[in-house]
Amino acid sequence: MTADTGPGARDDRTGSVVPGRSGGSGRSVRALADADVPRLVELERELFGAGAWSAAMLRDELAAPGRWYVGVDGDVEGEGAGDDGADAGARADVGGSGSELVAYAGLWFDGDTATVMTLGVARRAQRRGLGGVLLEALVARARELGADALLLEVRVDNDPAIALYRRAGFEVLGRRRRYYQPEDVDAFTMRLVLGPSAATYPGHHG
Ligand SMILES: CC(C)(COP(=O)(O)OP(=O)(O)OC[C@H]1O[C@@H](n2cnc3c(N)ncnc32)[C@H](O)[C@@H]1OP(=O)(O)O)[C@@H](O)C(=O)NCCC(=O)NCCS
Repeated sequence: MTADTGPGARDDRTGSVVPGRSGGSGRSVRALADADVPRLVELERELFGAGAWSAAMLRDELAAPGRWYVGVDGDVEGEGAGDDGADAGARADVGGSGSELVAYAGLWFDGDTATVMTLGVARRAQRRGLGGVLLEALVARARELGADALLLEVRVDNDPAIALYRRAGFEVLGRRRRYYQPEDVDAFTMRLVLGPSAATYPGHHG
């Protein structure tokens, strides 16, 4: 996540999502819209606490130039406590009134480089591959756009996210002191080099 652009660019609409894009896992990734903002606010508060983006910031982000925001819906009842991951994964495509947004991510492409603006998975849906699916979708989109690299910032104490990014091939570029405010926490800047000569995304078990 990035903190120096937009609402404090956390980590990111250029075009719309191909309906049914699944990142290879069978779970559909869809474009986010204004109607998703109330649920996004809930997820932001759950996942980012004091650093949560407000409804106004989220609306501005969704409408900002070069942004591409996507998410995954999950079954409201089916992804609660006591589920096993395989069942939850099988149900993650279910739409309609019994589903709600459980994971989301955003990309910003400035014409050269792409930036991961945010990535979050509801606590109850974590460790089921959704973060990986969304990151894979962002990487694929950045490649489609012709970005030379995909950049992001991540809290230095966010071990789950750092592990996710490393697994996808990102490397630490540097450290930004006291980058996250009001939390007053440093950020690692990470980069995945794209382009014709770059290694391909390693996938979930690469
Ligand atoms: C980081 C986050 C998006 C990961 O989402 P997720 O759906 O749980 O991740 P996945 O199930 O796709 O995990 C993919 C890989 O990431 C790593 N990973 C994810 N969560 C992890 C954890 N708690 N501990 C260690 N590694 C973890 C693992 O390598 C994992 O692969 P594995 O399950 O085969 O071991 C999620 O924990 C989250 O939303 N955190 C709070 C918000 C946040 O910090 N966002 C990142 C902002 S920069």
